[in-house]
Amino acid sequence: MRSKISSFIMIPSILSVLIFMFYVLFGIDNSSYIVHPVTISFFIVIIILLFILDSIDNLIYRKKLKFLTEEERRKIIEENEGNYFYRIYKFLFHDPKKINQGVKKIDHGFDGILELDNKLPMWWMHLFSITIVFSFIYFFSYLLIDFSNPYKEYEISYKNQLKEIERFEKSMPQVTIENSSFNAKFVDSGKTLFEENCATCHKSDGSGNIGPNLTDDYWINIMEKDLFKNIFSIIWYGSKNNPTMRAFGQSGEIKGNDIQKISSYVYFINTKLKKPINHKDPQGKKIMNWNN
Ligand code: HEC
Repeated sequence: MRSKISSFIMIPSILSVLIFMFYVLFGIDNSSYIVHPVTISFFIVIIILLFILDSIDNLIYRKKLKFLTEEERRKIIEENEGNYFYRIYKFLFHDPKKINQGVKKIDHGFDGILELDNKLPMWWMHLFSITIVFSFIYFFSYLLIDFSNPYKEYEISYKNQLKEIERFEKSMPQVTIENSSFNAKFVDSGKTLFEENCATCHKSDGSGNIGPNLTDDYWINIMEKDLFKNIFSIIWYGSKNNPTMRAFGQSGEIKGNDIQKISSYVYFINTKLKKPINHKDPQGKKIMNWNN
């Protein structure tokens, strides 16, 4: 008869296996199920059942002990000596008292070396079995459910990221015409946005195509006294004369913060950069006395 595994090892092990199964079945993202009252009561019931089973097991064990011979009982008591940790140590590694006892010896004969054919230690054997069990769980959960499926994981984190961006944009106050101003650090990102949204009609250097040249001093639309604000408001409200230049800001197509970046780029190419050699002919009035 084997000695019993103590309940303080058995119960937590069974519980961790159960929790692992939960994790495999439901995934980590909806971790709310862990604190759900149903889950908590489920685990409480399981713990109580495990304790009941353990005490029944204890009773049977003690009953059986009575029917053993003196010799067998002595062996079990010997096995159970020391505290739990010492016994686990003895179980996993070889019993230090019994090491090299009763081990098969292989005599090479010719070189005089005596080889001891020791048994593999328990920790090695158990680790090996655990890897086999684990590979089965992993393999089937990979095939049948979403657990550890990289595509699914990617999809979930991608969705979460989009939600995060949405939340961020909502909480982030957008620039309006009143508080907008030129900022040199936005020129680079403004350039990228300009190329995406405006270059088809104005060319990426702003020299003009369907739309007018944005790098000269001639302006069709004069809505503000300040050059930067004038650019911002044209992009926001569009052109009153020509619907081809649409109201990017008002329609919500481009957000205020991005319009500030694009306006910074347009302001930059209009005032700070060398004028392109090839450009569209001037349109509108020549204006030099902007407030800014
Ligand atoms: C579909 C073509 C088209 C697109 C896209 C477009 N524009 Fe225009 N844009 C025009 C036209 C056409 C005008 C001239 C409007 C007018 O005659 O009043 C114009 C005018 C302007 C003006 C005023 C020029 C002036 O002399 O009054 C600015 C500034 C401007 N666009 C910037 C932009 C920016 C920045 C973008 C990108 C967010 C953009 N445009 C996208 C066609 C376009």
